[in-house]
Amino acid sequence: MASRKLLLLLLLSTVLLFISSSLGDRKAIEIGGGVGVNLGFGIGPTPSPSPLDDSDGSSPPAQAPSSGPQPSDFPNLKQYYAYLVIQRFKQSITCDPGGVTQTWVGYRPCTYEGFYCAAPPDSPDTPTIASVDFNGFGLCAPTIVGFVDQLPDLALFHANSNYFSGTIPDLTGLPYLYELDVSSNLHFGAFPTKVLPLSNLIFLDLRFNFFAGAVPASVFAFNLDVLFFNNNNFNEPLPAELGRSPVAYLTLANNGFTGSIPPSIYNASNTLVEVLFLNNRLSGCLPYEIGFLSIATVFDAGFNQMTGPIPWSFGCLLKLEQLNLAGNLLYGEVPDVVCRLAKDGNLANLSLSGNYFTWLGHSCWDLVKTKVLDVRQNCIPGLPEQRSPAECSTFWWGPKQCLPSHDIPCSLPKGPTKRPMSSTPPAYVTYEALHHPPPRN
Ligand SMILES: *[C@@H]1O[C@H](CO)[C@@H](O)[C@H](O)[C@H]1NC(C)=O
Ligand SMILES: *[C@@H]1O[C@H](CO)[C@@H](O)[C@H](O)[C@H]1NC(C)=O
Repeated sequence: MASRKLLLLLLLSTVLLFISSSLGDRKAIEIGGGVGVNLGFGIGPTPSPSPLDDSDGSSPPAQAPSSGPQPSDFPNLKQYYAYLVIQRFKQSITCDPGGVTQTWVGYRPCTYEGFYCAAPPDSPDTPTIASVDFNGFGLCAPTIVGFVDQLPDLALFHANSNYFSGTIPDLTGLPYLYELDVSSNLHFGAFPTKVLPLSNLIFLDLRFNFFAGAVPASVFAFNLDVLFFNNNNFNEPLPAELGRSPVAYLTLANNGFTGSIPPSIYNASNTLVEVLFLNNRLSGCLPYEIGFLSIATVFDAGFNQMTGPIPWSFGCLLKLEQLNLAGNLLYGEVPDVVCRLAKDGNLANLSLSGNYFTWLGHSCWDLVKTKVLDVRQNCIPGLPEQRSPAECSTFWWGPKQCLPSHDIPCSLPKGPTKRPMSSTPPAYVTYEALHHPPPRN
């Protein structure tokens, strides 16, 4: 369900971009045809002056000088206002390696590089800036406050891989915004709570910035499909309400989250497809409720400080392909029901290295041989590459807070239900999100 929703979303945005870029092309043709009217503000065959020439402060402010462009110069009033906002933002830009801002001149903002127009739903005859795509432009600006928030008809704002700093503005005045991507920038401060009341937002990408503090519980109350928070400095406990979220793809990796994985994750059982808790400071016992994630394909909580045995409920994760719990403080026996997922489910990779497991369930031994299961650096007698007996006994005598849970809240399949794997390895949305996007050519 959720992945179908995502697909629909991607389709929608492609269509929107297509419409808007064809609109843009039409404008470009009109202008390229040299129709004389309305031109003369740097558009056309004569090369426009470098945008950086404006940055010495000698030019007048963009805000409506009476001698400057008039509303009647523009296709509509919305585009005139957008023009003013864009020109003001342009003056704050301090680097532009690709020279894109040189195209931000003239009375046709729909033709500016990075801007796309479409008619907003409430005024179908008034095409205006509906989408901003600065991905990979490498622009520098001290803030996007006064820019994004002043383009009221925006549906998409994609600005990954720039050098935008400051906080994220209050976007509550943008009713159509459904995708916000500010990843790989220099944003800092607390979680931008003001982006959340947006009823249409379904894609929120904040990864690779310097956001810190807590992710507020309210994030998980909204109807989002994709939440990418990885590679920031979040360092508070995960909110107990995490599981309320209908999100399909959730990345919390490479932060400093503390506390435990909330048992409310149970409530995400029909929606959560991939989740990365990887590389935080999460502690506590592995919750039994994880076993309810019936459509999850990726569950990765590697490199935390979680402890306890693996609950047998994990044997219900029949759709799971990647299970990573490496680098924690887990102990006990690796449950046979979990290893059976490789035969009866879709499990292709079970990473449990760097824990304190002492025994393997019956079905696990084969998986070690086939390298589906990695249990190096544990305390398993008879296997190579284990921890030293001293390390194992120190851990063994330490306190143990988690009880084994042998409850299996599903009926296990009688035989293999495995789908035939395609020869090309699947690409996981969340694991992709751990890499910076490739630079634009
Ligand atoms: C989980 O869902 C149930 C029923 O759908 C609801 O009553 C409960 O409050 C939810 N819990 C959380 C933590 O979201
Ligand atoms: C298995 O998972 C581990 C941990 O996520 C990862 O490092 C490794 O590359 C994966 N191996 C395969 C073959 O997917």
